[in-house]
Amino acid sequence: MTMIILEDIAKSYWVGGAPLPVLDGVSVQVGEGEFVSLIGPSGCGKSTLFSIICGLTAPDRGRVVLDGGNSAGAGDVVAYMPQKDLLLPWRTVLGNVVLAREVGGEDPKVVKREAQELMELFGLAGFENSYPADLSGGMRQRAALMRTVLARRRVLLLDEPFGALDALTRAKMQQWLLEIWARFGPAVFFVTHDIDEAIFLSDRVYVLTQRPARVALHLQVHLPRPRRLADVTTSGFLAHKKQIMDALYF
Ligand SMILES: Nc1ncnc2c1ncn2[C@@H]1O[C@H](COP(=O)(O)OP(=O)(O)O)[C@@H](O)[C@H]1O
Ligand SMILES: [Mg+2]
Repeated sequence: MTMIILEDIAKSYWVGGAPLPVLDGVSVQVGEGEFVSLIGPSGCGKSTLFSIICGLTAPDRGRVVLDGGNSAGAGDVVAYMPQKDLLLPWRTVLGNVVLAREVGGEDPKVVKREAQELMELFGLAGFENSYPADLSGGMRQRAALMRTVLARRRVLLLDEPFGALDALTRAKMQQWLLEIWARFGPAVFFVTHDIDEAIFLSDRVYVLTQRPARVALHLQVHLPRPRRLADVTTSGFLAHKKQIMDALYF
């Protein structure tokens, strides 16, 4: 089953009395359980594409099909972790991670028990009652990811989740995300502007051009799983890196 089909998506914003073309005929697909990355220059329209998948922004042209059209709405299929405004500062970690399910009308006690069991896996045991401001950057991102995973959708849309982290924390988080992915089995559609990150994590990578974005390259990543940090030095990895750099910079 193909979870996300985007066909020939075009979108312009209206800025200062003139149209700003952002997406210019983008077609991408994400299959069930697949890990797919979207990479492209800053400002090329990656977040806009996510917002279109979620139904928060309407495309000017093109077709969006989620879960083969079998679900009532985007919210039933995808859990979205936006690039900004991830956690509510006035809610504790526990209060934040159960939010999606609570809003969905589930018994808060049941959801909280389920969240409690995952705290260890997300490296947040002992911090259930802390507030976002008291956590490190990595912990905040894990809490936001936990909220996304707890929403229990078959597709996770992750918009540059590790963009603000230092290199070491980021590498650890990448490895850990692959464990979460293997354990829960959702499809992941992952936005990044980091070439190594896209290759390391993904089954497939779509490379976008500068705005207005088109797909410059669609790459199948031929690296065995499970992935190891040292994989980034293999010749296969470096060959993929060159393919992506050629597509991005020329
Ligand atoms: N709501 C909006 N109104 C007008 N312009 C927008 C809006 N959202 C994004 N843009 C512009 O569209 C372009 C693409 O933005 P975005 O999708 O956030 O890019 P990316 O995520 O790839 O960095 C940028 O130039 C941005 O300034
Ligand atoms: Mg963005």
